[in-house]
Amino acid sequence: METKIMLSERDIPKKWYNIMADMPNLPRPPLHPATKEPVGPDDLSAIFPMSLIEQEVTQERWIEIPEDVLKVYTLWRPSPMYRAYRLEEALGTPAKIYYKYEGVSPAGSHKPNTSVPQAYYNREAGIRRIATETGAGQWGSALCFAGSLYGIDVTVYMVKVSYNQKPYRRIAMETWGGTVYASPTDRTEAGRKILEADPDNPGSLGIAISEAVEDAATHDDTNYALGSVLNHVLLHQTVIGLEAQKQFEQIGDYPDIIIGCCGGGSNLAGVSFPFLRDKINGKELRVIAVEPASCPTLTKGEFRYDFGDTAGLTPLLMMYTLGHDFVPPGIHAGGLRYHADAPLVCQLYHDGLIEAKAYPQTTVFEAAIQFSRTEGIIPAPESAHAVRAAIDEALVAREEGKEKTILFNLSGHGYLDLQAYADYLEGKLVDYEYPEEKIKEALSRLPVI
Ligand SMILES: Cc1ncc(COP(=O)(O)O)c(C=O)c1O
Repeated sequence: METKIMLSERDIPKKWYNIMADMPNLPRPPLHPATKEPVGPDDLSAIFPMSLIEQEVTQERWIEIPEDVLKVYTLWRPSPMYRAYRLEEALGTPAKIYYKYEGVSPAGSHKPNTSVPQAYYNREAGIRRIATETGAGQWGSALCFAGSLYGIDVTVYMVKVSYNQKPYRRIAMETWGGTVYASPTDRTEAGRKILEADPDNPGSLGIAISEAVEDAATHDDTNYALGSVLNHVLLHQTVIGLEAQKQFEQIGDYPDIIIGCCGGGSNLAGVSFPFLRDKINGKELRVIAVEPASCPTLTKGEFRYDFGDTAGLTPLLMMYTLGHDFVPPGIHAGGLRYHADAPLVCQLYHDGLIEAKAYPQTTVFEAAIQFSRTEGIIPAPESAHAVRAAIDEALVAREEGKEKTILFNLSGHGYLDLQAYADYLEGKLVDYEYPEEKIKEALSRLPVI
C-alpha cells in the first residue's frame, strides 16, 4: 500500500535499452538534405561527436552508461514511482494509476536524462560550445545545467512565444551559465529570412532548430544537441522505463496501459520502450502517445520523409509530419509544438505497437487542475496531456468495471509554467481550431522523395 515506490541508487540502470534490437521493422534511413541519399557518419560529424553518431545507428540491444554519467544521474535518479491513490478515489475508478515522476531532476523534467550524456560525450570529444533550440525552455535549461557540469558554453535559441510566456525559464538557463536568444533571431541566415517575410513570427521548434544547426555548422568549435526525436536521445531516456520495470517488480504488478505525452517522443519512448520489448515478445499491453489537438502529428500527419527543421538544413527523416514549415498555434505546452515525431516512435505507431490520442488544451488543463488538487504536484502543461489520457482511461475502466493498471509518465513539473495556469484559472485559455488549411498547405511543400 505504499504511495511512493522507491529504488536505491544501486538500482540505477547501468545500461540504456536500444529498441532497434527488437522492433519488427527498423525506420527507413535518414537522407542527406541535398543528395537525398542515406547519410553516413561523416555527414553528421560536423555537428555531433562520433560516440553519439554511433549510438544513433547501432542495433546493439544494451548500451553501457558511462560511469561519470551514472554519478551525475544520482543527483535525481532513481526517480520515484507514485501510486495516485487520491486521484483514483476522486475518480471512483477500480483502476490503479501509477506515475513515474521526472520533475525531481534539477531542471524539473526528464530532459537531463539525455542532456547530461550529450554534454559528457561532447566534452570527451573536446567540444567547448553547444548550440541548441528550446520550446518551453525545459530542454534548454536541461542542457545549460549539463553544460555547467562539463565546462561547455551553451547557446539556446528559444521559441519566441515561449520566451515571452516563460521568462523564468530564461533566467534558469542564464543561472546555469547559458546564453538565450528569442528565435527567430537576426543572428542566422535562417532566422533573418523568416523575419523578413514575417517580422511578427512567433517562432516554432522547427525554426529554432534551423538556427541552432546553422550556428553549429558555421562555427568550428561548436556542436549541436537535440532534446528529442533522434535515436540516441530516446535511448538515453530509457532509464525511466527500466526503473519503472524494477518498481513494478518490487510490488508484483505490471501495467496494462502506458501513457506519455508526445512532442518529439522522447519521454514516451523513455517510459515505454523497455515494456514494448515485452509486447513485441507477446505480452498484452497498450502504449498511448498523447499530443495537442492543435499540433496533431501522429493522429493527423502523413508518414513521409520530411526535414527536422523549418529551413531544411537537417537530414530528411521518415516521420509522421504536418510539414516542416507548419507553425503550430501558441499553446502553453510549448514542448509539444513540433511538426513531427521521432522516427522510432513513428515506425512503432505505423506498425500498430503504439496508439495516439489528441486533446485540446482546456481539457488538458482541467485534468491538470484535478491532478494538482488530489496528488499535489502541479504538472508541466506538456505532461498534463498524459494526465488527461490517464484520467480518461481510468474512467473507461470505471465504466467497464475493470481493474486496469495504468502507468503514465509525469515528465515534468509546472512551477515555471504558472502563467499558463493563471490564464486557465482566469478563463483566458482558448482552444485553437485544428489548423486544417495551414497543415494542408505545409504538407503540399514537403520534399518529394
Ligand atoms: C515536461 C516536458 N514533457 C514533454 C516534452 C516533450 O518532449 P518529448 O516528446 O521529447 O518528451 C517536453 C519538451 O520540452 C517537456 O518539457
